[in-house]
Amino acid sequence: MQSATSNSLAVNIGPSGRAIAQPIDVDLLQALYQHTSLERVSSAQYLAMSLWFLERELRGFASFFKNESLSEQEHGFIFAKYMIARGQTVELDEVSKPIQEWETVQELVSLSFQMEADVTTSVQQLYSLAERSNDTRTTVFLDPVIDEQIKAEDEMAYLLGKVKFANNDPSALFIIDNELNKN
Ligand SMILES: [Fe+2]
Repeated sequence: MQSATSNSLAVNIGPSGRAIAQPIDVDLLQALYQHTSLERVSSAQYLAMSLWFLERELRGFASFFKNESLSEQEHGFIFAKYMIARGQTVELDEVSKPIQEWETVQELVSLSFQMEADVTTSVQQLYSLAERSNDTRTTVFLDPVIDEQIKAEDEMAYLLGKVKFANNDPSALFIIDNELNKN
């Protein structure tokens, strides 16, 4: 850390040229990049799911998954913004092609639940890396993210439970679709 002199105040500068109060640990930074990618991949996957439902006249499901897609996109943005606030530059990865074929609604919603659980695991890893490098700024940043992930898992588990209960019966799926349309 550079110190202040009589005629200039020297501060640490990050790769983007921004003043930084505390450098980010290399492994943590790498993990933050990977997590940003995961959010963007999830967003693309949810978009594909929304379109799958739209093709099958299930507009309630389609709008639910569209909203999921938009919120994952926003999460990716929030992570990128955080890295910039910490003086880093953000290089974006390619977003892999999403899965677009499912046999049943249940298969699709099961994948969604697994995706949410994977995102939570990734956030937990970020949290322990932040703790290991005494990066309180990052743990504070992650606290509401973890809170939101727990809610997302709960919401997806609830939807999966209902879809399982419907047991591929079209009339039961239409009822769920109608409920989702009202949200
Ligand atoms: Fe997310």
